[in-house]
Amino acid sequence: MAKVMIMDTILRDAHQSHAATRMRTEQMLPALEALDDVGYYSLEGWGGATFDTCMRFLNEDPWERLRTLRKYLKKTPIQMLLRGQNLLGYRNYADDLVDKMVEKCYENGIGVIRVFDALNDPRNLEASMKAIKKYGGQLRASDPKRGICEAAISYTSGPSYTMEYFVDLAKTYESMGADNICIKDMANLLLPFDAYELVTALRKALRPETKIHLHTHNTTGTGDMVNLMAIRAGVDIVDTALSPLGNGTSQPATEPLVATLRGTEYDTGIDLEKLIPIAEHFKKVAAELEKEGSLNPKVRQVDVNTLIYQVPGGMLSNLMNQLKKAGKEDKLPEVLAEVPNVRRDCGYPPLVTPSSQIVGTQAVMNVIMGERYKQVPKETRDLFAGKYGRVPMPVNEEVAEKVLKGEKRITYRPADDLEPEYEKLKAEVLEKGYYTQEEDVLSYASFPEVAEKFFKWRKAKNEGIDTDLAKSGVYPV
Ligand code: CO
Repeated sequence: MAKVMIMDTILRDAHQSHAATRMRTEQMLPALEALDDVGYYSLEGWGGATFDTCMRFLNEDPWERLRTLRKYLKKTPIQMLLRGQNLLGYRNYADDLVDKMVEKCYENGIGVIRVFDALNDPRNLEASMKAIKKYGGQLRASDPKRGICEAAISYTSGPSYTMEYFVDLAKTYESMGADNICIKDMANLLLPFDAYELVTALRKALRPETKIHLHTHNTTGTGDMVNLMAIRAGVDIVDTALSPLGNGTSQPATEPLVATLRGTEYDTGIDLEKLIPIAEHFKKVAAELEKEGSLNPKVRQVDVNTLIYQVPGGMLSNLMNQLKKAGKEDKLPEVLAEVPNVRRDCGYPPLVTPSSQIVGTQAVMNVIMGERYKQVPKETRDLFAGKYGRVPMPVNEEVAEKVLKGEKRITYRPADDLEPEYEKLKAEVLEKGYYTQEEDVLSYASFPEVAEKFFKWRKAKNEGIDTDLAKSGVYPV
């Protein structure tokens, strides 16, 4: 019987969820060798937010961080999160850039790539999965634990999200070459008994060698139960975070699960004793993050709003903020009633970024204006026009006409419209005098302004100019 394996998120999602992704490489360093020795399936260490935050707030080169992690994590694969055709950013990239990004991720030390699309449109994963298979395959030939392709289903609830829907999607990803299928429950919407049913159905439908990997959070307090039920149903890997940055909006804590499974047929094989000094280290790190204001202890509490309102926690706070700005806080019940209507109109997209924001903003506008779709942001139009990809269900045609006002709809893969862009972006970075490595082009493509500001700072530092002044924003001008 295969044991349950664990991916610890302490180096990525844990501090992204609790501390706005502000953990610095130097705060990770003292624990890396011990983490490598635990026996995790993988350690999550990289993703869009870490990439952005490194440059934007920490004056760190995200690629340098990755190379450092790889230097110390000799046995345990580093796992990353990739947003399909959006890579680490928020727009669709051309296929040549997708290829280059994946190549460089593996080259700099990534072992497992978890790739997902917010709309669960498999066409948005075509290019990235092709690249992951290509470069991952090469890596795997010399190291079977690395070069793994993990395709993730964005988990959401709603009338069109049947077991059949998720199973079909998982089988599609498997046929596209996924080694692992991940259930990505970023909003902790998945309930324990549904997790049991879903994992059972997937286990039955997928090939025996395909691993099932569950990612949830403990925002609503169900996370440990979700993991345990999934384990009973035969899940292979679950995500947890070491206790100092576990629970609440982060993953369920690692230590209680290791203890729970010890001596059972699901034993993780992890020695609890080994986790204690590592947790001690991250307890100090968490205290530092709290002291500098990046960690608000409130993130550790159970928030039952998602259970009650059926919308992710982040979406609910966005709705409340938008209403507060408009001075219409009393309209919250009407907006919450309008959310499912808007969602149905636009074909039931999963409630994850960016569709959760699009649906939420439109619902707020429909209520505030007193007329549905009187005011329509560009993002709503783009969603109806197919520019984000295919939505799971047909849209409401009457609404589509009102929203699009004759604008053309696309039914093909959105990235098919894009010309190759890597060489053009490389020329820009070269011309600006910031080019030091191919990876710089990818940083620049992902977050142009943030990367440029970081490159300026790096250049000033390397040329021996006062970096304190550079940090203060006075230099460079
Ligand atoms: Co997450």
